[in-house]
Amino acid sequence: MSIDKYAVIGSPISHSKSPVIHQHFAQITGQELTYAAYEVNADNFHTFVTDFFANNGKGFSCTLPLKILAYEYADILTDRARQAKAVNMLAAQADGSILGDNADGHGLVTDLLNHKIKLHQQRVLILGAGGATRGIISPIMQQQPAQLVIANRTMAKAELLATEFQDLGLIIACGLKELNSQQFDVIINATSASLSNELPVLPANILAPQGCCYDLAYANEATPFVRWGLKNNALISIDGVGMLVEQAAEAFYVWRGIRPDTNAMIALLAKSA
Ligand code: ATR
Repeated sequence: MSIDKYAVIGSPISHSKSPVIHQHFAQITGQELTYAAYEVNADNFHTFVTDFFANNGKGFSCTLPLKILAYEYADILTDRARQAKAVNMLAAQADGSILGDNADGHGLVTDLLNHKIKLHQQRVLILGAGGATRGIISPIMQQQPAQLVIANRTMAKAELLATEFQDLGLIIACGLKELNSQQFDVIINATSASLSNELPVLPANILAPQGCCYDLAYANEATPFVRWGLKNNALISIDGVGMLVEQAAEAFYVWRGIRPDTNAMIALLAKSA
C-alpha cells in the first residue's frame, strides 16, 4: 500500500516551516506519511489539487494566496471555516469528498493560553481587517473579552467585519487614526505590515501596564510589532510561530485523528528564530 501524502501549498513557499513541523509530528506519533512543500499559485491551484488528491494525497495546508480558493474548492466546510470564509486545510474524506477547515483562530487562542495571555474579561485590540482578522474573531469572542475593538487603516473594512460578526457580541470598529486615549490589555497585529517590515502607526500609551502584544506574522528576527511591544513595556511581546505550530497540530489531528504534543517544536522554532 502506498504511503499517505500531505503537503503545504502556497506562493512563496520555500521558507515554510510546515514540512519540518509535520515530519516531527509524524515521528513522535508513529504515523507513516510524507509531507512536502509545493509552490502553487492561483493559476495552477485547481490542476494541482485535483491531481494530488487523485494520487494518494490525503490533505493540504493552504497558505497565501490560496485560502479563499481552497474555501471555494471544498465540498464540505466546518463551522469555523464557514465563519472565517477561508480555509487553511483540506482533508480527503472516506467517501471521496473534500473537507475544508480553518484552524488559524484555534492556533492563536491555544498559543495565547500557552503563554498564559488571557482574553477573558480583557480589553482586546485587533489591528487589521483582512483575511487574517476574519479567521480569529470567533475564537477570540468565545473567550469573552471585556471588549473587542478592530482598528484598520481603512475604517470601512473594520466596520464591515464588526457588522458581519455582530451575532457573536459587541465588536467595535474604528480607524487606526481614531485610536487615541483608550488602553488595551492585549493587542494582536493581524495586518500584513510585518511582512514588508512595516508597523501600523499606534498612539503612545495604548498598551495597558502589564499588557501583551502578539504578532500573527513571524520572522527570523523580531518583527517591527514585537519590537514595538518590547519598547512599550509589554509583559509579553511575541510573534506567531507558536500559532503556526498549534494550527499545524490541529490540522494533524483532523487528518490523522491523533493530537501531537507541540511543546518541543515550539521551543525549537522559537530558539531558531
Ligand atoms: P491578510 O489575509 O493577511 O489579512 P489582507 O486581506 O490583504 O491580508 O489584509 C491586510 C491587512 O493589513 C489590511 O487590514 C490592511 O489595511 P487596509 O485594509 O487599510 O489595506 C493592513 N495593512 C497592510 N499594511 C499596512 C500598514 N503598513 N499599516 C497599516 N495597516 C496595514
